[in-house]
Amino acid sequence: MSIPTGQKALLLPSKQGEFVVDTVDVPNPDAGEVLVRIEAASLSHLELLMQRTGIYITSYPAILGLDAAGVVVAVGDEVENVSLGDRVLFVANFNLANRFAAQQQYAVMKANLTSKIPPNITFDEAATLPCNLTTAVNGLYSSVAFVAGGIQRGGANLTPFWKEGGRGKYAAQPIVILGGSSSVGQYAIQLARISGFSPIITTASPKNADFVTSFGATHVLDRNLSREVLIAKIREITSQPVHLVYDAVSFPETQNVAYDILAPGGTLIVVPTYS
Ligand SMILES: NC(=O)c1ccc[n+]([C@@H]2O[C@H](COP(=O)([O-])OP(=O)(O)OC[C@H]3O[C@@H](n4cnc5c(N)ncnc54)[C@H](OP(=O)(O)O)[C@@H]3O)[C@@H](O)[C@H]2O)c1
Repeated sequence: MSIPTGQKALLLPSKQGEFVVDTVDVPNPDAGEVLVRIEAASLSHLELLMQRTGIYITSYPAILGLDAAGVVVAVGDEVENVSLGDRVLFVANFNLANRFAAQQQYAVMKANLTSKIPPNITFDEAATLPCNLTTAVNGLYSSVAFVAGGIQRGGANLTPFWKEGGRGKYAAQPIVILGGSSSVGQYAIQLARISGFSPIITTASPKNADFVTSFGATHVLDRNLSREVLIAKIREITSQPVHLVYDAVSFPETQNVAYDILAPGGTLIVVPTYS
């Protein structure tokens, strides 16, 4: 495959500056890395916050871009899991260096942190998956409280469904997922279903009720209901204590509902809000 030496990138030239398209070198993959021709990348809430405030950016010009999907066009030494021409998606490590960022035509990535894209998924669809899915997965299954940007983070430490005994382990236990039609909420519902939770109670706009039910929600409540009515309706659906709430949007109003419905000693998962 012919690879150019220069490429277009979306650059942030200075702190709180405006994004500009400019030309930068195409990076080379080191051992264990692949070079990916980026076909689709997202610009998320986080990156807009980074542009607005400079948070997490250590040097300029900076290239951002976390969600990436594309084609492997060069393979470094010691790479075994992917080959030239493979379609892959990944969470780009743009915080490490510009060569890893997704908002450019070519980026390098550690090969063992890429996933192959099934043939029935387009690049655009694939690029919506990495951060949304990993946020949902980390919230539910991560045990490690790690520090990122000075903030300690961790997850609910559930047994993941991909480990022995994990699939269906939480059968007959209720979960409440606030914001089930959001990008993170959609994945949280699907993961909760695989882990066995029942009922899976979520909130969304009525127009999205069929949508969230289609992939696993068992009960959908109008997210515009008052806090008191939402809590009463959740208690009508399940008389069991709710030990796990995933607030996938984490607005003040949803966090208040979450706290009120949570059983003593329960776990509330929140997402960092960047808007
Ligand atoms: N996406 C990620 O990877 C990620 C990672 C970390 C943190 N976050 C944070 O998570 C939050 C959500 O991000 P997202 O990308 O998942 O958002 P999104 O896909 O843009 O979600 C928007 C949806 O959230 C729903 N929503 C809004 N207010 C709600 C409320 N009060 N109650 C219930 N649902 C409500 C609405 O659903 P209806 O249309 O049904 O009303 C709306 O369509 C943001 O604050 C973001 O910064 C996201």
